[in-house]
Parts: sequence; structure tokens; C-alpha cells
Amino acid sequence: MRKYYELHDRSVKAMLSGEGVKYVKANETLSFDARKAEVVAIVGESGCGKSTFAKVLMGLETATEGTITFNGDEIESTEVQQRPREQVASMQMVFQNPNDTLNPSMTVGGQISRVIRKFGVESDADKVHDRVMRLLDMVKLPRDFYHRRPRQLSGGQKQRVGVARAFAGNPAMVIADEPVSALDVSVQAAVTELLMEIQREHGTTLLFISHDLSVVRYLADRIVVMYLGQIMEQGTTEEVFSPPYHPYTEALLSAVPIADTTIDKRKIVLEGNLPSVVNPPVGCPFHTRCHRKIGKICETTRPPVLVDSDTHQIACHIPLEELQAVLPVFFAVDSDGTPTGGGAPAESTAGG
Ligand SMILES: Nc1ncnc2c1ncn2[C@@H]1O[C@H](COP(=O)(O)OP(=O)(O)OP(=O)(O)O)[C@@H](O)[C@H]1O
Ligand code: SF4
Ligand SMILES: [Mg+2]
Repeated sequence: MRKYYELHDRSVKAMLSGEGVKYVKANETLSFDARKAEVVAIVGESGCGKSTFAKVLMGLETATEGTITFNGDEIESTEVQQRPREQVASMQMVFQNPNDTLNPSMTVGGQISRVIRKFGVESDADKVHDRVMRLLDMVKLPRDFYHRRPRQLSGGQKQRVGVARAFAGNPAMVIADEPVSALDVSVQAAVTELLMEIQREHGTTLLFISHDLSVVRYLADRIVVMYLGQIMEQGTTEEVFSPPYHPYTEALLSAVPIADTTIDKRKIVLEGNLPSVVNPPVGCPFHTRCHRKIGKICETTRPPVLVDSDTHQIACHIPLEELQAVLPVFFAVDSDGTPTGGGAPAESTAGG
């Protein structure tokens, strides 16, 4: 799937040069799948195209090219208004900021009821009411919150309502786009745990979008690592957290905070800033910052997708055997910080 946004540059210079329309290449050739009841995390820096992908999936935007198949239906070009009711019901989203989705003038009960009716889950008034109560129980909010309005709730409570709403129509898949990043740190873990608990109980497929690998480590079955709208690596969580790594993943891992004093990690500094998506680097998009860049080929030629296993793929010009020989980012140390078990990190930022 590919998604470009048109940017209209109205400057005289742009018009004279015929470069009036530029494209924000938000998603470039994204290709992966998510299976029933699976938790797939999409991870990458700010601006790499994670929300764009979520929006195309939800029908809030349409794709520029390519296909997205959901339960056998191609959905990439159909806006949400044109999608059949069951399809919309079966794919729901938990947004980053609950204020964006909750109607400030409606009670909590009113907005959840509306979703239940809209998706035809129940129509009888008593049954709808009963289902709202069960959804409030599910997200661990007191039942008398039925009558409250969003402004009478804390951020964490609002997001619990957001979760209840997302699950109100019995979705097969829920997309959670940084669902806790707007919340106070003290409630983030509880809301994430709640979401995971409900996902497991209902066997829902969950696409969990985050910019933080450490957050998704303990909740994702599989991880997709994105950079400038492209997939750099995808694999099971275990595969992504151990070599072979994509050099970008390796750098992200080295930035993961660790509290365990028996574990240390190699430090890799990502140089420079994220390049613009309007004018992304040719060849490998990561070449301007890669600590393992092997030469000109990285600047000119799009890297091949290396297949490490049925589930693990890495887009890089470095041969797989070389990536397999890279030392783990994390290694065990004893009490005075000396690496144990002979796994000493001899290399630091060795270029290929
Ligand atoms: N409607 C739009 N028109 C033009 N460009 C857009 C539009 N929406 C997003 N973009 C651009 O597309 C790129 C990808 O944006 P997107 O929101 O998908 O990133 P993201 O990975 O979700 O980032 P974040 O972690 O900050 O939420 C960004 O450069 C953004 O500025
Ligand atoms: S293709 Fe080259 S620049 Fe890109 S990640 Fe691999 S080594 Fe680095
Ligand atoms: Mg986003």
C-alpha cells in the first residue's frame, strides 16, 4: 500500500519551475499482514507515517496505490462513509487523544449507546442500556459514569470511555494509535493493561501504534519497524529484539531505557535529523543516518528484503550472514558492570 499527500506550493518560483505540486510520501510500499487475535505493533519515529497508515485502514484517507485486504475485501480506496456497516463496525480505532473523539455535549452512556445502535448490535432500549453497563464494567469505570459528560472525567477515564466505544460494536480489529501517549504517566500502564486484557478476552486483532520499542516489547506478538513511510524490519517480538537487526532497529534498541542493573547495552548514536518525507533520500531511506552504511549502493539503490525466517524480514544491503554476526545490543553484566558470559561488546558503532 502507498499513500502520498499532495502539497500545493503556490509560490511564483514553484509555478514557474512547474514544481507546484509536491508529494508527501507518507507511506511508501507498506506490506504486511495481521492475523486474527494477534497484537501487531507499528513502531517508528514521529512523522514516519504510522497514523497515515491507520487512517487509510480506517477509511479516513484513501490509498494512492496498492491494496489493503480486510477479511477478504479490498478496502484501500473506500472511504468510511462508503463502507458497509459491518465492515466499519468490525474495524475500530482508539485515538491518541480521547478529546478528539468524544462528543463534549453527550453523556458517556449516550455516546456508547449510539455506537451500539449504529452498528446494529442491539436496538431494544433495555438491551442497549444493559450493554453500556457491561462495557463500563469492562473498562472498569463505575456504572454511574453513564450520566457524566466528558469534561467531568480525567484523561485516563476519558480514554477508558474511548476503549469502551471502540469495543461497543464487537470489532474484529482495533487500531490503537499511541493510545496512552496523551495521558498522565501515572495512568498509562493501567490503560494499556486494560486494552490488552480486553483484546485477549475478545480475541480481537490489535494494531498497536507506538514510537517506543520498550512499550511494545511485552505486549506485541509481532513488530513492524517503519522509517520514512517504509518498513525497515518486521518480525516476532523476539526476532526484532535479537540479531540479526536492521541497523535502524539496532539504533532504536540502544535507546531503550533499562532498569535492570544486570543488563547493559551498546550505545549507538543516530546522527542528524529525520529527513523530510517530501524529499526522502533515494536508495535506502536510512542512509543519511546509518552507522553501518556500506557505501554508494546505500545512496542509489533500494535495499533488498532479506528473509531471515518465515516471519522475519529486513530491508538492507548488508548480507544476512553479516547482520547475523552482529552482537546483541543487550548483554548481561556483573555487579561492577563487567560483561559476563564472554558476550563482551567488542564493537560499538562499527561501520560494515
Ligand atoms: N493531510 C496531510 N497532508 C499533507 N501531509 C500530511 C497529511 N497528514 C500527514 N502528513 C504528513 O505525512 C507524514 C506522516 O505523518 P503521520 O501522521 O502518518 O506520522 P506519524 O508516524 O503518525 O507521526 P507521529 O508519531 O508524530 O504521530 C508527516 O510528514 C506528515 O506531516
Ligand atoms: S541499506 Fe545501507 S544505509 Fe540502509 S540500513 Fe542497510 S547498511 Fe544502512
Ligand atoms: Mg501519529
